[in-house]
Amino acid sequence: MQITMQIAPPNWKKIMSSFKIAILSGDGIGPEISKQAVRVLKSLEKKNSHVFECQELEFGANAYFANGKSFPNDTKRACDDADAILKGPIGLSHYESEKIPLEERPERGALLPLRRRLNTYANFRPILLPKSMTHFSPLKSKVVGEGIDIIMIRELIGGLYFGVKERGKNINGVRYAKETLEYDEQQIRQILIVAFEQAMKRKKLLHNIHKNNVLVSSVLWNEICDEISQDYPAVTVVHMLVDAAATHLCLNPSQFDVMVMENMFGDILSDQGGGILGSLGLMPSACLGHDKAYYEPSHGSAPDIAGQNIANPYSMIGSVALMLEMSFGLISEAKTIWNAMHSIFDDGFVTHDLAEDNIDSAILSTSQFGDKVIEKIKIVGA
Ligand code: IPM
Ligand code: MN
Repeated sequence: MQITMQIAPPNWKKIMSSFKIAILSGDGIGPEISKQAVRVLKSLEKKNSHVFECQELEFGANAYFANGKSFPNDTKRACDDADAILKGPIGLSHYESEKIPLEERPERGALLPLRRRLNTYANFRPILLPKSMTHFSPLKSKVVGEGIDIIMIRELIGGLYFGVKERGKNINGVRYAKETLEYDEQQIRQILIVAFEQAMKRKKLLHNIHKNNVLVSSVLWNEICDEISQDYPAVTVVHMLVDAAATHLCLNPSQFDVMVMENMFGDILSDQGGGILGSLGLMPSACLGHDKAYYEPSHGSAPDIAGQNIANPYSMIGSVALMLEMSFGLISEAKTIWNAMHSIFDDGFVTHDLAEDNIDSAILSTSQFGDKVIEKIKIVGA
């Protein structure tokens, strides 16, 4: 797979021989999948002249319990200094979360502030299932066809997530809560340009996902989309309501190539994307700003299976591949990772999340999956 919005200057590979990477392992299964991702990254280092200087930092609930802040100042500084950031999932079970004050809970106290600080407005969520892995999809084989290859582009620092919030009681003493969905034209334009550029590099087909039959923010969004499309006459734009898009993703995913949408729609539809692949464990992502980027799995921290060495590290290792390609311009190294991961499944192995009636010996633990990726990288000699 190749995603073509790079934030690295094209000649960075030649200039840089050392890349500074902040590692935020996160909570739950975060540390165990991050460990495999860093091993894979380091194994590429041995095969060529690049040095990946990794610095581990506290972030999320672990950071809160260690020092009372879920996004500590040291971590902020290290993120500012890094060439790229690799982040594991954050968050705890509902019960454990209750022990943390609302404002310091990992989602509100760490993740959203990280996104805002780095201005990572463009979230790329590839929904990728090569033909040889289509049996993992819950969709019928005639629906999944030759495989799934969609890029969902989610606006990441606007909309309901960041709008003004209010809670209170009205004059009748009835409790209410209020959230604001606000976008200005610059925010909309910058994400749509990313989407059009991506469409130009792929099939020149862009699905613009909206809800303009109800939301005035979608009316503005679509107006701007039509304006920008004048600059991209080669791109076919299909406007699709978000609820319809949810159905079409199940009934005919191959109609999509690049999809673009606002923050909340993207949160929901990208999880559905993981669903049609067969697991959220197959969902790496890239969060890009104008000059900073961080990379993370799209899934959560799965506290119920943490520490058991059974989590699927594909999303985390895939996030390394996206980082190599998009931040560092190391396209062939990224390809090597994708090929290695896909060929593990081609060899008949599975991870726990994808195992159905597989015999035990075919089911790989978190660390065994990491071992196999590294073995395969060695064979290719990246
Ligand atoms: C995601 C996650 C986050 C989000 C949560 C953890 C706040 O679900 O990255 O999709 O909703 O953006
Ligand atoms: Mn989500």
